[in-house]
Amino acid sequence: MARLKDLKTVGVAGSGLMGSGIAQVAAMSGYEVLLLDVSKAQLEKAVSSMTSSLEKLVQKEKISENQKTETLKRIKITTDMKTFSTADLVVEAATENPKVKLELFRQLDQICGARTILVSNTSSIPITRLAAVTARPDKVAGMHFMNPVPLMKLVEGIRGFKTSDATFEVVRKFAESMGKTFIESKDSPAFVVNRILVPMLNEAVFALQEGLATQEDMDTAMKLGCNFPMGPFELLDYVGLDTALAIMEVMHQETGDSKYRPCTLLRKYVEAGHYGRKNGKGFYDYT
Ligand code: 3HC
Repeated sequence: MARLKDLKTVGVAGSGLMGSGIAQVAAMSGYEVLLLDVSKAQLEKAVSSMTSSLEKLVQKEKISENQKTETLKRIKITTDMKTFSTADLVVEAATENPKVKLELFRQLDQICGARTILVSNTSSIPITRLAAVTARPDKVAGMHFMNPVPLMKLVEGIRGFKTSDATFEVVRKFAESMGKTFIESKDSPAFVVNRILVPMLNEAVFALQEGLATQEDMDTAMKLGCNFPMGPFELLDYVGLDTALAIMEVMHQETGDSKYRPCTLLRKYVEAGHYGRKNGKGFYDYT
């Protein structure tokens, strides 16, 4: 995979599941990566998950031991956003909270050079709204990666109201340079993948709440009946119950359509601290 000539340094803001995956694939494709988080402990966790993902890829002979070492060398972790002043493109991959993302975009706009492109990995928040808090709405776009980023081939590109053609072209080429297939979506709540996927997951929780079947049987049904790699409850645990709930909340608020109301049982699980695999308990127990 070849990197884009004028794009050398990529900043990634947020080192959770998605941020660390994006940092890893960017570094694997030859970009210098600055990975930012407010928490040093989270950054260390990110390094260990990127290392173990790269080790799996070495074991499967997808990359060499040397490529693994070189990839890790290209990733610098930092808690200081000022280092982003040298970034050519920044991917924001913070938690799916509008307040947090808007504040990050304000700060990134202050710190980054005037030519830097700012993209968000938001799964549901309008790109136009994020772009509007910056002085460069033409250089803001959406770039929605899928989890697990190193394995999933898709990136959804989202044009905000003022995203320029030139910016969108760089974003498309950047995704393709990392071996991803790029599709274009309008700036509409939850874009394409989550618009279709998350209401289906929410529906599965409604079905569980009604006692339609056990969660195990519903997972089996969708795996064997539809060839899904994971059943809906396994997938909810994988993407995070809190993330799925946040996406449903945005879809419901943005459209005002009751068909997008989050299921009460999903909310209860999140209120009880069941976030999924990331903290060891979701619909299933991973402890
Ligand atoms: N890096 C490198 N390799 C990895 C990896 C990672 N992060 N995660 C898993 N692997 C490898 C494993 O080592 C394993 O290799 P092997 O076949 O040689 O043993 C292989 O991938 C398969 O992994 P597992 O055996 O652990 O499990 P699965 O066979 O179930 O595959 C999966 C895992 C690829 C995640 C598959 O279950 C899958 O495709 N699940 C659906 C994922 C999905 O739908 N993602 C989209 C979610 S929506 C989203 O992200 C949007 C957001 O906004 C919510």
